Amino acid sequence: MTIEPITAPDVHPIQEVLNQVHEKYRSLNLGTPATYIPELAKTDPKLFGICIVTVDGEQFSVGDAEQLFTIQSISKVFVHGLALEDHGREQVLSKVGVEPTGDAFNAIVLDEQSKRPYNPMVNAGAIATTSLIKGQGASERLNRMLAMFERYIGHESYIDMPTFMSERTTGFRNRAMAYLMRNFGMIDDRIDESLDLYFQQCSLMVNCCDLATMAATLANQGKNPRTGVQAVPSRYVRDMLSVMYMCGMYNYSGEWAYRVGLPAKSGVSGGLMVVVPGRLGLGIFSPPLDERGNSVRGVKVCEDLSEQFGLHLF
Ligand code: DON
Repeated sequence: MTIEPITAPDVHPIQEVLNQVHEKYRSLNLGTPATYIPELAKTDPKLFGICIVTVDGEQFSVGDAEQLFTIQSISKVFVHGLALEDHGREQVLSKVGVEPTGDAFNAIVLDEQSKRPYNPMVNAGAIATTSLIKGQGASERLNRMLAMFERYIGHESYIDMPTFMSERTTGFRNRAMAYLMRNFGMIDDRIDESLDLYFQQCSLMVNCCDLATMAATLANQGKNPRTGVQAVPSRYVRDMLSVMYMCGMYNYSGEWAYRVGLPAKSGVSGGLMVVVPGRLGLGIFSPPLDERGNSVRGVKVCEDLSEQFGLHLF
C-alpha cells in the first residue's frame, strides 16, 4: 500500500503575498483613527483588511476585507468622474483646478488668480465638483450619485446615517469653504443642498473588496471587470487617474508618487484605494492615520506591494 504525501493546497501567488504583508503589518501600532468627525472616533483601530481585484475579475483578500466603513474622501474620485460626464472636461476645469497643493486636505484656500479650488481631491475642490452633479432637486441628484457608485461597486450601497448627521452638524469648515466659493461664483446657489450631497457621498458604506472593484474598474478603462458594466465613459478615466496620481494622497502625494508610483486615494476613515492601470485594483482598510490623514498600514502595504510586484509606473 502506498501512502500519498500530504501536500499543502496550492495557494495563488497573489494570495500568498497578501497573507504575508497582512501578517507583517498587522501588529504595526502607529497612528490614530480620525476624531474630528465624532462617528469615526468610535472605530476599532485593529481592523485591517486588504483586497485585490484584477482586470480579469479575479478577487483575493485577507483579514477584515468584508468590514464595512464610510468611503470618505475616496468618493471624490468618482464624483469627479460624474462631474466630467455631466459637463465635460473644460467646463469642470473652469470651476476646479488640477494643481496639487502642499496644504492639508481641509485648508481654506483658493487659487489666488482664478479663485478656483486647487483640485477635486481637497475638500474645497470636492465640494465644487459635487455641486456640479446634475439633477432636479436633492433626491434626483442623490439618486444619480448612488447609481454611479453602484456601477463601480457592482451592487447597491447605502449611506450611513449617523456619519452623515455627524458631518452635517459639525462640518463648519466645509460650510465656510462652500460659502467662500459661492462668493467667487465657483458654485451655484444650491449651497446647502450640495453640502448635504457632499456629506452623503462621504458617508457611503463600502468594504475593501468594494474599493478594489472600484479601482479595478478604473484600471480597466472604466468597465467593471466583475459585472461588465461601463461605469464611466473611458475618455474620462485618464483625467480621473491623472488627478489621483498628483493629488490623491494629500500633502504626501509627491513622496507617494516617488515611492509607490501609482494613482491612489485615501480617506479619513482609513480606506485606501490604488489603481494599477491595465492590471488590478487594490483596496485597504486600516483606521489609524498618520499626521496627513493617510492610513499608516495602508501606506506601508502599498510601498511593500509596489516593490515586490514591481508596480511603479516608471
Ligand atoms: O469632509 C471631510 O472632512 C470628510 N468627509 C472627508 C475628508 C477625508 O476623507 C480626507 N481624507 N484624508
